[in-house]
Amino acid sequence: MAKMWAGRTSGDIDNIADDFNSSIRFDSRMYREDITGSMAHAAMLGAKNIITPAEADTLIDGLQGILDDLSSGALQIDPTSEDIHMFVEQKLTERLGDVGKKLHTARSRNDQVALDLRMYLRGQIEEISGLVRELLTALADKAEAHKTTIMPGYTHLQRAQPITFGHHLMAYAMMLLRDLDRLADCNDRMDSCPIGCCALAGTTYNTDRKFEAKQLGFSKIALNSLDGVSDRDFCLELLSALSILMMHLSRFSEELILWSSWEFKFVEISDSYTTGSSIMPQKKNPDMVELVRGKTGRVYGDLMAMLTMLKGIPLAYNKDMQEDKEAIFDACDTVKMCLSVFAPMISTMTVRTGNMRRAAQEGFINATDLADYLVRKGMPFRTAYKISGQIVSKCITEGYVLETLPLADYKSFSEEFAADVYKAIDLQTCVKKRISAGGPSQKSVESQITYVRSKLK
Ligand code: ARG
Repeated sequence: MAKMWAGRTSGDIDNIADDFNSSIRFDSRMYREDITGSMAHAAMLGAKNIITPAEADTLIDGLQGILDDLSSGALQIDPTSEDIHMFVEQKLTERLGDVGKKLHTARSRNDQVALDLRMYLRGQIEEISGLVRELLTALADKAEAHKTTIMPGYTHLQRAQPITFGHHLMAYAMMLLRDLDRLADCNDRMDSCPIGCCALAGTTYNTDRKFEAKQLGFSKIALNSLDGVSDRDFCLELLSALSILMMHLSRFSEELILWSSWEFKFVEISDSYTTGSSIMPQKKNPDMVELVRGKTGRVYGDLMAMLTMLKGIPLAYNKDMQEDKEAIFDACDTVKMCLSVFAPMISTMTVRTGNMRRAAQEGFINATDLADYLVRKGMPFRTAYKISGQIVSKCITEGYVLETLPLADYKSFSEEFAADVYKAIDLQTCVKKRISAGGPSQKSVESQITYVRSKLK
């Protein structure tokens, strides 16, 4: 096809080079943003009498027609076009004749693509934030159901202190709330409109950049035209926010994988989110969460690709920057897929409360509470810590847990022990007594759930 930019060159590009150069196969997904941006541009050109108001109306109607036809499927994207910007302009000129050629006055593909990408990504942020909210809702509901379900809390993957499953789930909810904040912050900084920066140095026409920005829902314009077309910080910020979000999902996935194992058996992921093995009949594999963990690397890779692509290019636009889209689109698609399976998987997962409780009972996770018992009787913490450790050691050697060790044995370590020690080290008591703000007590977990739900309103 004849190139619209043929002029200085013949436009007679080698076929393989043409294919290499083109971005239509991945940037056509921005057709809506491209056309909406062009409509605002035509309106501005008309309002400023750079073209006549009648020509502006013709362009806007023509663009609307292309948008409608692409949406209905009546018009197909031409895969031999160089990119979505060229495709739309070409179609417009085909349909309107010479007036179509006026659309690109006081504009360049450099500011056009910077605009399209921002608009597209603002939509993606909204979609992704909606999916994060769905996951938060699922977490809050599950936590509510398990606010008194005792489980061992771990450090170093060693049983440490008693918590509840609800408390554990709310830890992930707090991470996801921060992810939402980061996405919102990213969206705020994306609120700067680059259209009108043109190729790099603005234009000699008397344009009104604020008019276009306002029409497209931006509250600010990019203040330096070179920066306006070169800036891809908004992509990096979104990729960073998505990388952190994926890191959270990946940690959660790792726990779900562990908890689903025969060694833990704390949860059972619903059949809808697991697979069987083609050879081992007993297997129920947590493939979805393993994929989430695996795809985290892919999103980090997208961030690295973008950082590396940008680090050495001079101002302003360089063709390297066409590489921005595949990375950021891949990250958005990946995150959306992961979130879409995660929320329903959490909602439908069975929690094996008995196994959690058993694990909590076997792990001496009330040893800190035993020490605290002695402290409450007046003993310094370090001394109490040492005695409790010796008691645990005795239990391990003699096959007891703290709950079953006879009182006489306790008394052989300290005369401070009395019959009320058993109540003090009861797991239910241990959790209930952890009343510090943010802790696992039922009241504290309830207030965490209320907080998360209030943020979702
Ligand atoms: N397809 C290009 C991109 O995605 C369009 C930008 C302008 N191209 C150019 N050669 N100035 O980055």
